[in-house]
Amino acid sequence: MAFEYEVLKTCAQTGARIGRLHLPHGVVETPVFMPVGTAATVKAMSVDELKEMHAQIILSNTYHLYLRPGHELVKKAGGLHQFMNWDRPILTDSGGFQVFSLASLRKVEEGGVMFRSHLDGSKHFFSPEKVMEIENALGADIMMCFDECSPYPCEYERVRAAMDRTARWAARCKQAHQRPEDQALFGIIQGGLFKDLRRISCEQISELDFPGTAIGGLSVGEPKELMYEVLDDLMPHTPKDKPRYLMGVGSPDCLVEGVLRGVDMFDCVLPTRIARNGTVLTWSGRLVIRNATYAEDFMPLDPDCDCPVCRNYSRAYIRHLFKAGEILGARLASYHNLYHLIDLMERIRQAIWEDRLADFAKEYFAKAGRF
Ligand code: GUN
Ligand code: ZN
Repeated sequence: MAFEYEVLKTCAQTGARIGRLHLPHGVVETPVFMPVGTAATVKAMSVDELKEMHAQIILSNTYHLYLRPGHELVKKAGGLHQFMNWDRPILTDSGGFQVFSLASLRKVEEGGVMFRSHLDGSKHFFSPEKVMEIENALGADIMMCFDECSPYPCEYERVRAAMDRTARWAARCKQAHQRPEDQALFGIIQGGLFKDLRRISCEQISELDFPGTAIGGLSVGEPKELMYEVLDDLMPHTPKDKPRYLMGVGSPDCLVEGVLRGVDMFDCVLPTRIARNGTVLTWSGRLVIRNATYAEDFMPLDPDCDCPVCRNYSRAYIRHLFKAGEILGARLASYHNLYHLIDLMERIRQAIWEDRLADFAKEYFAKAGRF
């Protein structure tokens, strides 16, 4: 069986739940944070380090791998798992977001999207069928439908048109998918910040009966409160017996707020991206390690963290690495930040088991604040 999802426990205090995803490359305990490995690498991290920090599943990008090194080459290597030497589950995003955020000179038609590569300006065409061919070649455990993600802000009629197209493309993706026996295809709900559209999109996508439900088009620049309002309204209508994936989210506070509303899966470049410019996540909030404050601070990045970085290196040392432009600085900060979010999800799962997630969230925000 390619895919099975079981809910093990629902929180008595909130909408959160604990579940287990059974995938060809292993079992994933949810709620889960998926580190992003855009170009078949979680930037600066080896697969051994990812395993050591208990990363259960990583995300990679169809758009990037298609452009470089090419999905045919990855297929020749034996698929993405073999190519990058990662034997745990992988999810590939479809390019439905990247084509709209990275590529230039897009032309969107019912058939698909014509775009120019952000790398060399070359011309390409993504259709639902083409994207399924690419994702099938990559061979991830979970693949995403090709969707049309609206920008923020965006007027109602444009959002509605993109949402309807996303539903038609989802049906075409399902039809074109060649490996349903070992790759699970998830549908994506769109609809921007319009609650009525979100509910319609939810019905359109649920009707197609994908093994998982993603929520796209959020965290695209809107105030967080608006995203939470959309989730408050939408989540109760999404299928309960399937995993719910909030795409491109996020920051630690959004992870907690998402789980409270019933989200099971998250991904975001935030922990690795901010790490590379010297920002670290801690249980007492954010810390900009380049700041002069830390020049003679010989404490670990986070005294409440038991990751190898915090057990072995000081703030002063890591600040020095950043000031000196040493790549170890970015590596250590990336490791710690990913560990922090994985640890956060582990503590969240424990709190759900013990029916105390609302209390956990309260204590968490009191100490860490909002990102
Ligand atoms: N990543 C973040 N948001 C989105 C979205 O709306 N669609 C897709 N395909 N990926 C995303
Ligand atoms: Zn740490």
